[in-house]
Amino acid sequence: MNKKPIIIGIESSCDETAVSIIKNRKVLSNIIIHQNIHRKYGGVVPELASRLHDKNIPIAVKKAIFLAKIKIKQLDAVSFTIGPGMIGSLLVGSSFAKSLSIGLNIPILTVNHIQAHILTHFIKNANINNSYPKFPFLCLVISGGHTQIIKVNDFFKMKVLGSTLDDSVGDTFDKVARILGFHYPGGPMIDTFSKNGNYKKFIFSKPLVNGLNFSFSGLKSNILQLIKNKLKKNPFFINENKSDLCASIQRTIAEILLEKVQKAILKTKICRIALAGGVSANHDIRKMFILFSKKNPKYEIFIPKKIYTTDNGAMIAITGLFKYEKKLFDSIDVHPFSKFEIF
Ligand code: KG4
Ligand code: ZN
Repeated sequence: MNKKPIIIGIESSCDETAVSIIKNRKVLSNIIIHQNIHRKYGGVVPELASRLHDKNIPIAVKKAIFLAKIKIKQLDAVSFTIGPGMIGSLLVGSSFAKSLSIGLNIPILTVNHIQAHILTHFIKNANINNSYPKFPFLCLVISGGHTQIIKVNDFFKMKVLGSTLDDSVGDTFDKVARILGFHYPGGPMIDTFSKNGNYKKFIFSKPLVNGLNFSFSGLKSNILQLIKNKLKKNPFFINENKSDLCASIQRTIAEILLEKVQKAILKTKICRIALAGGVSANHDIRKMFILFSKKNPKYEIFIPKKIYTTDNGAMIAITGLFKYEKKLFDSIDVHPFSKFEIF
């Protein structure tokens, strides 16, 4: 077996077409093509996403090979997202990966999207600490599709300790942002507007969920109700209070997440905590977790660099690399899955 294999990773589970090439845990290239078309529809339109992946994957692959300064024949394996995600989009990525594998006569490596978000931390210099977390650690996965606390024992041994019972935190950001008049995805817009806002201006109720599970549907209704009531008295309420609303909503979410992680620490006695997924790009959530570890130096917090928070091909390639090292190759007749499956 090649000592330092070169792995290509293809990510197409949602609305980013992402391709990356990795060697020796180092990113040689990392291409992300955003599908801005969904903005005007207020959310991802599956049919449009599949068509754009079909158009963009070959472009992204060519670019990734060029920027990595390699020849396509130097690739040792092709890894791709097998799920969870939108089935049409996953099928486009998997078909392309399978064709590449047959054409180059190299193995395929299927990758679970959530596991890949977590293993982002093992790409060289991918988190703000520039270090790899030691096992075991806790990972708070906060994305558009998922909100989970996972105990990570090893690259391939992970246990879900808690999940959302209803909406994901990313979906909550996006839906609330829509009420405030922002386009999709609204999370980054709330983040931007919150920077000039007062987070103490509005108080929202926090969910009472036992154990390590989450719930965001109550918070969403609470926000909607407050805005509806205020709009009855003042039709300009949203525009006059946008920044304060964003800051208050964001801080409530950050506190809910931090409180749950503190509970998980108490339960497991594990002091290393990693964040992963698109919502971990949020500046207030990052700030709150960093502050928490500054106040309690025995807790180590690992936060991905911004480029590795949202969907990217490097996280798929690094997971593929670990599978390659263990010779965990997959058969060409694998099928993508849309719903969360334990890895
Ligand atoms: O991990 P990701 O790219 O895709 C999924 O696997 O779902 O996460 C996308 C989610 C979206 O809901 C988006 O609004 C949210 O991440 N997001 C943010 C920020 N950047 C992305 N949410 C809050 N603040 C941000 N800065
Ligand atoms: Zn994701």
